[in-house]
Amino acid sequence: MNKKTISDIDVSGKRVLVRVDFNVPLSSKDPNDNITVTDDMRIRAALPTLNYLLEHGASLILCSHLGRPESAADKQYAMDPVASCLSGLLDRPVIKLDEVVGESVTAAAAKLQPGEVLLLENTRFEPGEKKNDPQLAAQLAALADVYVNDAFGSAHRAHASTEGAAQKIRAKGGAVVAGFLIEKELQALGMAVDNPPHPYIAIMGGAKISDKIQLIENLLKTADKVLIGGGMANTFLKAQGHEIGKSLVEADALPEAKRLLKMAPDRLVLPVDVVVASEFSADAAASIVPIWGIQKDKMALDVGPDTIERFNVELQGVRLVIWNGPMGVFEFESFAQGTNALAFLLSEMAVMGAQVVIGGGDSAAAVKNAGLSDKMSHVSTGGGASLELLEGKTLPGIAALDDK
Ligand code: 3PG
Repeated sequence: MNKKTISDIDVSGKRVLVRVDFNVPLSSKDPNDNITVTDDMRIRAALPTLNYLLEHGASLILCSHLGRPESAADKQYAMDPVASCLSGLLDRPVIKLDEVVGESVTAAAAKLQPGEVLLLENTRFEPGEKKNDPQLAAQLAALADVYVNDAFGSAHRAHASTEGAAQKIRAKGGAVVAGFLIEKELQALGMAVDNPPHPYIAIMGGAKISDKIQLIENLLKTADKVLIGGGMANTFLKAQGHEIGKSLVEADALPEAKRLLKMAPDRLVLPVDVVVASEFSADAAASIVPIWGIQKDKMALDVGPDTIERFNVELQGVRLVIWNGPMGVFEFESFAQGTNALAFLLSEMAVMGAQVVIGGGDSAAAVKNAGLSDKMSHVSTGGGASLELLEGKTLPGIAALDDK
């Protein structure tokens, strides 16, 4: 990575503004409930950076968004549950503030001592956050001497806390560097973009193809093969002329699907069988059919066992695999087998020494559901961010950091 990290600077005695991605799932949407964090993966992922900074004599001012609140009135998105979860994981007090910026925040930051941790309120409670408002960025920057970005999941957002504050701290002479999570994510995902070991296979799934056309096109430039499953496979199958019954199809994306198939007829690998049902429901009766046997009144909700076997054959001897998007409706048990079987196959490959990188979002959730996260080489904490990186886009939160 050509960006500086916390290992490159001296943080002793410094006040450090750390942008983390603590956008975590919560137990309830009712502000009157006792809301708790239901999956602390993203908080745990930031611990190596936070502990390193604390052990090296820094004091920390942490900031993150949580959910997509309309305004500060959306109290169910307050950071209090995150503060108590973090305090338990760090095993030290976390002073949670009720504002993002303002007099009380400035006063609390000014008296912060080495080893102490402040957590600001949800950055999206400030209307200037998503607009990358320079005034909000300056207020955040005024709190600290150094800026650390460890929020990989938000690195594709040019917001006041991810981009603007970084520029403002640099303008006043402070260091602007990456944390260890960003370094790790860029190493794992960056390998696929810059210098992939071959054979390299990308596996794409999920419901929508329209969001991922650019991504698949880019992957076809670097990967040896791209295996396609999930809802998006239907649009490709339809583009090839198959009857796909009531399966989800993006009619608008058919010309693009045809173009990609023409571009790489032997390198785009599609399902050979699917699990179908009459309706989109958890208890719908499931049956397995070859792709030439989908009846008009049925919809494909998962890939079938022959598809997994076909993928298995393609994956033999592969040195790098990137997986993004489930193979079916894995939230319903009857349609989770394709996703689970693929997760298991990839975990075995990782154990045998292949680099297996799981994109964030649904694929990370699927691997976690299957109890296989620890077996993979890397499970990304960023959904949108990992996709944009693989698409070859520049992530503003990374671009803003000091070069080595
Ligand atoms: C994510 O969960 O992908 C990140 O935290 C970014 O959240 P956002 O899509 O609401 O910006």
